[in-house]
Amino acid sequence: TSVTLLGLPTDIGASRLGAAMGPDALRVAQLAPALQKLGVAVHDLGNLAGPANPRGERDAQGMRNLSEGLAWSRIAHDAVWQALQQKQLPILLGGDHTLAIGSISAVARHCRASGKRLRVLWLDAHSDCNTPANSPSGNLHGMPVASLCGLGPAALAALSGSTPAVPASAFCQVGLRSVDPSEKHMIRELGLEVYDMRAIDELGMREVMRRALAGLADPEGTDIHLHLSFDVDFLDPDIAPGTGTPVRGGPNYREAQLCMEMIADTGRLASLDIVELNPALDLHNQTAELVVDLVQSLFGQSILMRPGEDTLIQ
Ligand code: ARG
Ligand code: MN
Ligand code: MN
Ligand code: MN
Repeated sequence: TSVTLLGLPTDIGASRLGAAMGPDALRVAQLAPALQKLGVAVHDLGNLAGPANPRGERDAQGMRNLSEGLAWSRIAHDAVWQALQQKQLPILLGGDHTLAIGSISAVARHCRASGKRLRVLWLDAHSDCNTPANSPSGNLHGMPVASLCGLGPAALAALSGSTPAVPASAFCQVGLRSVDPSEKHMIRELGLEVYDMRAIDELGMREVMRRALAGLADPEGTDIHLHLSFDVDFLDPDIAPGTGTPVRGGPNYREAQLCMEMIADTGRLASLDIVELNPALDLHNQTAELVVDLVQSLFGQSILMRPGEDTLIQ
């Protein structure tokens, strides 16, 4: 595997400042060496430049910082598209979750061009399927799923070159526990596949992930591109306080590890967003360090030797 790290330092989509420092917090937590230890080749393109956060008010359509959100999404789109063209696995280091509009638009374009089926796994405390009219906050980071499904402002929805960028059926959301009233209707209307925290309580993480990843593992899934959009607020705030919109009652350390290990087992991970890490709200960079630990599991780190693994020392 060969990955490209793309730093997108922005918080234009959030109410709180600080997610713009996410990429550097992940570098401080040694993301690249952690991957290299697993035999993954890493190219870090550094932080890409984009507009500052004007901390604007809601516009007539109901959005804050739309033009900046569009600019950052284009930057994310172009960088992810280029990495995929070069057969790299792009890892977008956010930045807030608005950026997923750009990255997933590029992934959707790539899948159309290469005849692959796209599966988007969305790990998050939130559903992020607000439209500008329905959003309680006007924050763009609460709107990426709606945008990718063709709702909301045309310019954002059209980034991938066709609208909607992704069929709603491609999404699977896991970990939800803060869903706005209008989002509940939207989930129903779009028919989104969702496993909320109650589902995890009742079924267990293992069964939830088995369902979420059904059909991806060998040999049926060879034409599938799995994109993981990992919002750090998916994790329980007790273990991951460094995020701007924490919600109690999330997955614990072991549940999060199992989730990542089961994704790794499919062998289909082809692109990744790591978003909403806010080191300004953290203590001793523990959230970034936890994320690096989880990303290692995502790229094959396991407690024992994996089936077919033939080297003892790595
Ligand atoms: N639903 C809330 C909103 O629309 C919170 C969204 C939080 N999203 C996130 N990516 N952290 O404002
Ligand atoms: Mn979230
Ligand atoms: Mn999110
Ligand atoms: Mn591909």
